[in-house]
Amino acid sequence: MYNINVQKDMIRGEFPMFKNQPDLTYLDTAATAQKPQVVIDATNKFYSSQTASSGRGSYTLAVEASLLLEDVRGKVTKFICGNDNEILRDYTTVFTSGATESLNLVARMLQQLVYSRKTKKFNIILSLAEHHSNIIPFQQIVQTAKSMGIEAELKYLGLNQDGAIKLEQISELLDSDTLAISITHSSNVTGKITDLSTFGKLVTSKCSNLGRDLPLTVLDCCQSAPHIPVNLSQTIFDFACYSAHKIYGPNGVGGISAKIDVLRQFEPVFTGGGIVELVEESGSSFQPAPSRFEPGTPNMAGIAGFGAAVDFVNKIGYQNIISHEQELSKYLWQGLNDRKENFGIQTVGLFNQSENNNSNQLALASFSIQGIHPHDLGQVLDVKKVAVRVGHHCAQLVHRNFGIPSSTRVSCGIYTDFSDLDKFFEALEDAVKFFRKS
Ligand SMILES: Cc1ncc(COP(=O)(O)O)c(C=O)c1O
Repeated sequence: MYNINVQKDMIRGEFPMFKNQPDLTYLDTAATAQKPQVVIDATNKFYSSQTASSGRGSYTLAVEASLLLEDVRGKVTKFICGNDNEILRDYTTVFTSGATESLNLVARMLQQLVYSRKTKKFNIILSLAEHHSNIIPFQQIVQTAKSMGIEAELKYLGLNQDGAIKLEQISELLDSDTLAISITHSSNVTGKITDLSTFGKLVTSKCSNLGRDLPLTVLDCCQSAPHIPVNLSQTIFDFACYSAHKIYGPNGVGGISAKIDVLRQFEPVFTGGGIVELVEESGSSFQPAPSRFEPGTPNMAGIAGFGAAVDFVNKIGYQNIISHEQELSKYLWQGLNDRKENFGIQTVGLFNQSENNNSNQLALASFSIQGIHPHDLGQVLDVKKVAVRVGHHCAQLVHRNFGIPSSTRVSCGIYTDFSDLDKFFEALEDAVKFFRKS
């Protein structure tokens, strides 16, 4: 079993935020993770001694910036897609400003298919567990298609009582007009982990029954990548979208990892400098993927920091992360369940433990308390220096599904300790007493 003292003393010590804010109990890692010193150092190093524009110059610093970018691209691709070098040759990563841009880019690529194939009818399957960033870009392309007389529709996979996506509904929803399926690897509200292998089997079997090719499949691994391996190459997914800032990396950088062959079929979505082969008065030709999707000057300091974040997570290892966070997850859910009756707590989804003592649950829980508005609760917790997220967490459909308009979310990371959760429960008890009295 992973030694919690090693976790507490060594890993937490690598995050300057906890030295600078010694009283802080940070339980909002699902919104953004704190940054270890190595990530801050890599970002600073780029600005203080490596600054040059990548891909544009022939002097040494510019060449080194290009090499750095490609080195991090390789690291991130391996981190998201899996370790098998043979398979990795088929995959690449497009750098973006984060998961939101990644999902918008993918949606615009799908739109290109609709127009280039002159599609008259299509549907896209999402789930009720999705973050708004994995809903609205697809709503927009469906609405635009409809305005052009195309029969277009969004369909949603429902949720089980525990919050997991009802994958079995794929056989009902997927049909010959399904253009794409875009779902989350883990919800940012329930923390439930989607079983990607079952997803693959269900999609493959339904497509073979229909005698059709697989639709394009998109995985939002924003919440999962910091906590569990994504292993894109072991799944049927074509695209994985994520943000570095949730993986202990810098803000303003993220990516789409995908098969090179899949990316090859698309035209650039945004255009400009840095991605062209030839520009003539009437038109231009573009570099191959991934560069063709990365116009303009990249966020090089962010990319350098992202590389350091991937090294940091790899150094700790997913096995250690999982064994620590699974214990935190049980402790968090047990604590909420113990207070359920007394406090009038309703969790968004339920905790369930599998036979092998693992769960399909990240160390994250969202809940409401009867008679106490999450914003009021959040304020009282803040006075006690306990930072949690309140509101709908950019996922209104999940909340509506459970009949809870908004919730309080507690989310953990590798630096979270049981004492953080104890402080949260202590503050929660005080807050409930305070509100019940007033
Ligand atoms: C599941 C999920 N998808 C997408 C996003 C969007 O990420 P970003 O705001 O970094 O673009 C988030 C952010 O919370 C998320 O939790």
